[in-house]
Amino acid sequence: MPLQSEPPNVKIVIVGAGSVGVTTAYALLLSNLASEIVLLDIDTTRAEGEVIDLSHAAHFAHAKVRVARGYEDCAGATIVIITAGVNQKPGQTRLDLVKTNYRLFESVVPQVARHAPDTILLVATNPVDVLTQAAQDLSGFPTERVIGSGTAMDTTRFRHELGRHYRVNPRNVHAVIIGEHGDSQIPVWSLASIAGMRLRDYCRQAGVEYDEAAMDAVAQRTRGAAYEIIKRKGKTNYGVASVLVGIVEPIVKNNDAIVTVSRVGIYEGVGPVALSMPCKLNNSGAHMDVPLMLDDVEREGLRKSAESILEALNSARNPES
Ligand SMILES: NC(=O)c1ccc[n+]([C@@H]2O[C@H](COP(=O)([O-])OP(=O)(O)OC[C@H]3O[C@@H](n4cnc5c(N)ncnc54)[C@H](O)[C@@H]3O)[C@@H](O)[C@H]2O)c1
Repeated sequence: MPLQSEPPNVKIVIVGAGSVGVTTAYALLLSNLASEIVLLDIDTTRAEGEVIDLSHAAHFAHAKVRVARGYEDCAGATIVIITAGVNQKPGQTRLDLVKTNYRLFESVVPQVARHAPDTILLVATNPVDVLTQAAQDLSGFPTERVIGSGTAMDTTRFRHELGRHYRVNPRNVHAVIIGEHGDSQIPVWSLASIAGMRLRDYCRQAGVEYDEAAMDAVAQRTRGAAYEIIKRKGKTNYGVASVLVGIVEPIVKNNDAIVTVSRVGIYEGVGPVALSMPCKLNNSGAHMDVPLMLDDVEREGLRKSAESILEALNSARNPES
């Protein structure tokens, strides 16, 4: 593998050196977006093993990879990615994880915030929307500096599935999933397009049928992808790691790319609650200035999604419930 050029002077801390954390560290290393990658985990022995292994990959890049001595090593981080937490078991929904991971965030986030008051928090732990809001509450950071990976993953899967159905490169499919990174997510059919044409127009021009049942199956495969992967291999890691790098890149490069990420706001009159909408990403965080024109069904779906996330958040905040 050829040696890369010098990366920018960027430190990224990853809290949680498990499957998602380490795959993200590896993807970041190869992306050349950071000069220093620091892994922080309660299991320091595991983190040390991962760092030794990663440092051999770092031989081909320029980033330094090391284990954190403690939360003080978050100081000066441009981004702190949080992937610590328990994972879904086959058959569990993301919302089933809420209480355990909420308690974990109560111990992790204040320590990160104390040592890195100017950082951007990027949350991947599930249920990601509930925990993005928890991270904002617990850090006291402005909303734009607390970002959840949200439906960036589902949007990628949706474009992949549409690309496969229409035999078009997913890069030329523009379509988003909004709302919860979970069962109440909403595919925005009204704006989905290929080569600038809405799907029905594309089908008419291309002389192919717009197949409603096939589109339902696309949405179902998108929503169910993680369940299918977990049923077979017990976890998901490569997709989410690439998506996290795709969120880190516009922040580090300050390039205003639009990515569908989770952020606290008021949605369809419900909130404050964190859910995903397309946001502009740059070095000050995620900005909600991409006004989507949704139809009535999509707006109603968004309202329901916001309510279901709020319900989960309230049950997590109240340990007695
Ligand atoms: N957002 C997404 O798209 C997405 C995709 C896949 C997984 N996830 C979520 O990411 C999380 C991690 O998944 P995984 O497969 O990497 O799990 P994992 O079990 O492999 O890793 C979790 C790591 O967290 C560490 N940890 C636990 N408590 C900690 C604490 N207090 N401080 C620091 N580290 C701590 C553990 O030691 C472990 O190394 C899960 O919640 C999972 O559901 C999110």
